Amino acid sequence: MNIPSFTLSRQVEALGPEIEAAIAKVIASGQFVLGPKVQQFETEVARVIGASHAIGVANGSDALYLALMALGIGPGDEVITTPFTFFATAGSILRTGAKPVFSDIQLDTFNMDPDLALARVTPRTRAMLPVHLFGLMADMSPLSRFSGPVVEDAAQAIGATVNGQPAGTVGAMGCFSFFPTKNLGAFGDAGLVTTNDDGLASNLKVLRVHGASKKYYHEHLGINSRLDALQAAILSVKLPYLAAWTERRIAVAARYTKGLVDIGISEVVPPSVPEGYRHVFHQYTIRADKRDALAQALKEEGIGSTVYYPTSLHLQPIFADLGYGSGAFPHSEEAEATVLSLPMFPELEDDEVDQVVESIARFYGYGH
Ligand SMILES: Cc1ncc(COP(=O)(O)O)c(C=O)c1O
Repeated sequence: MNIPSFTLSRQVEALGPEIEAAIAKVIASGQFVLGPKVQQFETEVARVIGASHAIGVANGSDALYLALMALGIGPGDEVITTPFTFFATAGSILRTGAKPVFSDIQLDTFNMDPDLALARVTPRTRAMLPVHLFGLMADMSPLSRFSGPVVEDAAQAIGATVNGQPAGTVGAMGCFSFFPTKNLGAFGDAGLVTTNDDGLASNLKVLRVHGASKKYYHEHLGINSRLDALQAAILSVKLPYLAAWTERRIAVAARYTKGLVDIGISEVVPPSVPEGYRHVFHQYTIRADKRDALAQALKEEGIGSTVYYPTSLHLQPIFADLGYGSGAFPHSEEAEATVLSLPMFPELEDDEVDQVVESIARFYGYGH
């Protein structure tokens, strides 16, 4: 068996000629950074996401950093976020000079618990930064009791919705990543900030070009974080396929869950999808007894799996100064010890999903 956690090769094979033609056009245009191809993609992706503005930037990490900069967040400020996420979420807070304040997750959704987050608000809290982890939106409605802005880390959640409202349109800004492995992936680094606020949109456009509102005239301290035309052209080719890819991810997830539940594997908890949510399954992440042994057994059968994330951020050396110790966030620590993401990509075949489920059943002795 050879079922990888993730592969792009099946998608690249299908779209190769279309993408090569788009790349050739950019090369012929001689316009490589920002420009009309980037504007075209920004317009198309804003429509797909349902936001008034989409500002293309160099990567998802910068999208987060620029969103916090656009709010004027800096030293002395606090931003509340989850410890169970990719480093860049909290790294972006640190880059502004503000203090990340971690708050525990709900174990069933892996997302920030809004009531615990609200309890951490102080006079210094300038923003909330929930993450829509693995493609499931965080519960944001209670956060309306917080008087400041909410920035959505939607890096893994393009196309996700809650009660019909899309990721990236609920908070003040939404931050997306088009890293190649994401649901919509470039051929390199790329990112995006969405907003419905005209003022924030113009701030972001200035901040991504060294804080220059016109060329060589710098009123603000910005950074160099522009989207490349080549990446934008590739993303424009892929964007029309996103809806079908997402449907396929959802179907793969449903097949995994049905398989695991039908066999009755009590050692495994499939991902939950609360009522009203559209989970876009960037990852299909189970919680599993004897997680490391299961991953090893799958590996021996040629099945890939990955632990996202093995160390909660409050236990990372870079955040040691914040003074959180082991035991500070029990749900995040329980998640890091038990999560396992199974192979997930739209080109995964039904029989491959079935083989993964059967291997898991075999490992726990369910007689398959
Ligand atoms: C939750 C989350 N936030 C932020 C990022 C950062 O995005 P990028 O890798 O494009 O900088 C990623 C992806 O890597 C992510 O998964």
